[in-house]
Amino acid sequence: MKIIVTGGAGFIGCNFVHYMVKRYPGDEIINLDLLTYAGNLESLKPVEGCPNYRFVRGDIADRDFVFSLFEKEKPDVVINFAAESHVDRSITDPEIFVRTNVIGTTTLLDACRKYGIQRYHQVSTDEVYGDLPLDRPDLFFTEETPIHTSSPYSSAKAGADLFVLAYHRTYGLPVSISRCSNNYGPYHFPEKLIPLVISRALNDEEIPVYGTGENVRDWLYVTDHCTAIDLIVRNGREGEVYNIGGHNEKTNLEVVQTVLRALGKPESLIRFVTDRPGHDRRYAMDPTKIETELGWKPQYTFKTGIPVTIQWYLDNKDWWENIVSGAYQSYFETMYGARL
Ligand code: NAD
Ligand code: DAU
Repeated sequence: MKIIVTGGAGFIGCNFVHYMVKRYPGDEIINLDLLTYAGNLESLKPVEGCPNYRFVRGDIADRDFVFSLFEKEKPDVVINFAAESHVDRSITDPEIFVRTNVIGTTTLLDACRKYGIQRYHQVSTDEVYGDLPLDRPDLFFTEETPIHTSSPYSSAKAGADLFVLAYHRTYGLPVSISRCSNNYGPYHFPEKLIPLVISRALNDEEIPVYGTGENVRDWLYVTDHCTAIDLIVRNGREGEVYNIGGHNEKTNLEVVQTVLRALGKPESLIRFVTDRPGHDRRYAMDPTKIETELGWKPQYTFKTGIPVTIQWYLDNKDWWENIVSGAYQSYFETMYGARL
C-alpha cells in the first residue's frame, strides 16, 4: 500500500510515521508536511534513509500542489494529521485554523474524490464534543455525543469532521474518523502542558497553571493512539467515527505535581495565572466501540507512560533545547507576557 501521512513532522504524526515504517516494511509511507513552527525534521531521524519512507514538503490547503502530488503518487490511503493544533494559538489567531484544518481537509478530500482512494482517515479530537461538568464523573463522551465546540481550534476540527462525513454520504468516499483524548510522549512540542512542565522544571522556571488547575484532561500515551489509528484504517468500518481514550483522567494540577515530583523539583515553581478564555472543564472518553469492535487496548496507563516520557526528555535534551532556545522563546513571551 502507498500511504500519504500528512503532518508527519509534528508530535503525533512523527510517532505514527516511526511506527508504520517499522511495522509495515512492504508499505510505502509518504510524509507530507508544510514544516510550520510545529513541524520538525529532527523528529524523523529514526526513519531517515529507510527504503519505504519519503518526505515531501507542501501545504495541504494548496490545491494545485495537492492535486499534482496525487496525480503523481496515486496513494491508496491518506491519513490526515496535519493541523494547527494549539488551542491558545487559535484564540489569538483563528484564521489559520480555518485555512489549515477546514480548507486543508476539504482539499485532501477533493483530491481523494478525483484520483480515487481505498481509505481517507481523519485524525480528530475529543474537543469536538465540548466539555463535561467537573461534578459528573459518571459522564463520558461517546460517538453519539453531539458536536458542541468551545474554541476556534475545536470548531475548525469539528468543521473538518462534518465535511469528512458529508463526503461519505454525498459522494460515497470511503472515510473514517478517530477522535482521541490528550496525547503525551516523545517529540511533544513544548508549548503543550506536559512537555512545557518538563522543560521548564528542568530549567527551574515557573510553571504557569491556568485558573485553579482543576480542569481535567484524559491522557493517552502517543503510541497507543498510533496503534488505534492503524487498526481503524485497516479494519474499521467506512463512514464511522471511533473514540480513542484510556480512562486516565487527571486534573492539570495533579499532572504538574506528578511531573515535579518525578523530577525532584519543588511545587513552589507552580504559578497560577489567568485562565484560558472559554477553558473546557473536563474531557473523558468512552472507548467502548473501538475496544469491542476492533479489539484495541492501550499498552500504557498514565502511571506507566509518564516515567517513560520524562526519561525521553532527559535523554533527548538537544531535541527540545533547540526548540526552547529558538523561535519558541519569543512565542512564550508573547503568549504569557500579559498573563504573568
Ligand atoms: P502538531 O501541531 O504537533 O503537528 C501538526 C503538524 O502539521 C506539523 O508538523 C505541521 O508542520 C503540520 N502542518 C500544519 N499545517 C500544515 C499544512 N497546511 N500543510 C501540511 N502540514 C501542515 O499536532 P499534533 O499534536 O501532532 O496533532 C496531530 C493531529 O492530531 C491534529 O490533527 C490534532 O488535531 C489531532 N489531535 C491531537 C491531540 C493531542 O493531544 N496533541 C489529541 C487528539 C487529536
Ligand atoms: O483533547 C485533545 C486536545 O489536547 C488536542 O485536540 C489538542 O490538539 C491538544 O493541544 C490538546 O489540547 P489541550 O488544550 O487540552 O492541551 P494543552 O496542553 O494546551 O493544555 C492541557 C491543559 O493544561 C488545559 O486544560 C490547559 C492547561 N494548561 C496548558 C498550558 C499550555 C495550563 O494550565 N498551563 C499551560 O501553560
